[in-house]
Amino acid sequence: MKTIKAIRGMNDLLPQQSVVWQYLEAEIRAVVNGYGYQEIRMPIVEYTDLFKRSIGEVTDIVEKEMYTFGDRNDESLTLRPEGTAGCVRAGSQHGLFYNQVQRLWYAGPMFRYERPQKGRYRQFHQVGVEVFGLDGPDIDAELLLMTARLWRNLGLDKAVTLQLNTLGDIESRNRFKAALVEYLTQHKDRLDEDSQRRLDANPLRILDSKSSQTQELLNDAPKLIDYLDDESREHFEQLKNLLDNAGIAYEINPRLVRGLDYYGKTVFEWVTDQLGAQGTVCAGGRYDGLVEQLGGRSTPAVGFAMGVERLVLLLETCEVIPDSVSNDADIYLMMPVEVEGAQTKGFKIAETLREAFPSLRVITHCGGGNF
Ligand code: HAM
Repeated sequence: MKTIKAIRGMNDLLPQQSVVWQYLEAEIRAVVNGYGYQEIRMPIVEYTDLFKRSIGEVTDIVEKEMYTFGDRNDESLTLRPEGTAGCVRAGSQHGLFYNQVQRLWYAGPMFRYERPQKGRYRQFHQVGVEVFGLDGPDIDAELLLMTARLWRNLGLDKAVTLQLNTLGDIESRNRFKAALVEYLTQHKDRLDEDSQRRLDANPLRILDSKSSQTQELLNDAPKLIDYLDDESREHFEQLKNLLDNAGIAYEINPRLVRGLDYYGKTVFEWVTDQLGAQGTVCAGGRYDGLVEQLGGRSTPAVGFAMGVERLVLLLETCEVIPDSVSNDADIYLMMPVEVEGAQTKGFKIAETLREAFPSLRVITHCGGGNF
């Protein structure tokens, strides 16, 4: 009979790997706790419309990557491709945004039908952080300080760099889009196929096209920075100032636009050159319009999500996993079955040890055999 295997792009985590995950998760939890963030847990499945209306109809995720299905009642449901939409939905539904500041985090599996490769899977895991109710650059800076601290704690600070950009407000973005489309339409024949398609639907995404010819064309294209509204410009200047004063290094990447539609103003990505093509380990930005767009009251918001698989790969590549991270026994207790009373005594000793040293891993030999 043919054996059944796991679905492509969906991984089992064996004990040897799960200890590393536990280590990483504990480090993350310690850092978010240290900044006073509180955990929220959302369902893995939501109504499809939630993702369409937040991530955007003309994005890779919504167009071709969602696991969408009808339930037995013919409701269209989707396995969450990311956590922000569900977090906003939950916060609105439970009144968390009513004259309150919320600093939240969540962790769990996300699902995208992408082509699996190293660092890219169909079921992957994120730890996400979202802040609601604060519109200043100080909270953007806090999120970046928090991630920088995590990289230091993990020994990854030399392996990642911060890329930063601002997308401005909706009006300035629209003015820029119009100018960009006008320029690119004149050179349409030199655009790659994907970018030609995006020219009408989602022109901003052309900025991070992988095609070198398109990138070359963009050298002479209008620049978003020249279209920024004063408020966004000021917000960005203040953020850069805060980061400079905190000693957080960054690169301005004017072509960083992100693949989800809800962003405005600050966007950022922590990237590494040590994982090949899938080098973004943490990404996010400001999305002041999303809560209202989903029917809630107008609430400024900013957040990011880290890819857990990619961080584990990076920990392994950089060889920074502490030796203490292992499943090995601290104490292994053997009891010769041939000696009367040894087993009973051995079990007692083991229990006493566990009582006295709860953090030690005490394994008693079971299964008999020759001493
Ligand atoms: P995202 O850039 O789509 O943003 O995903 C965030 C991170 O999740 C990526 O940088 C990457 O590390 C990881 N990731 C994404 N797709 C995959 C995949 N197929 N396999 C493995 N890892 C993956 C968001 O999801 C936003 N919700 C982030 C955010 C939160 N923005 C504001 N708040």
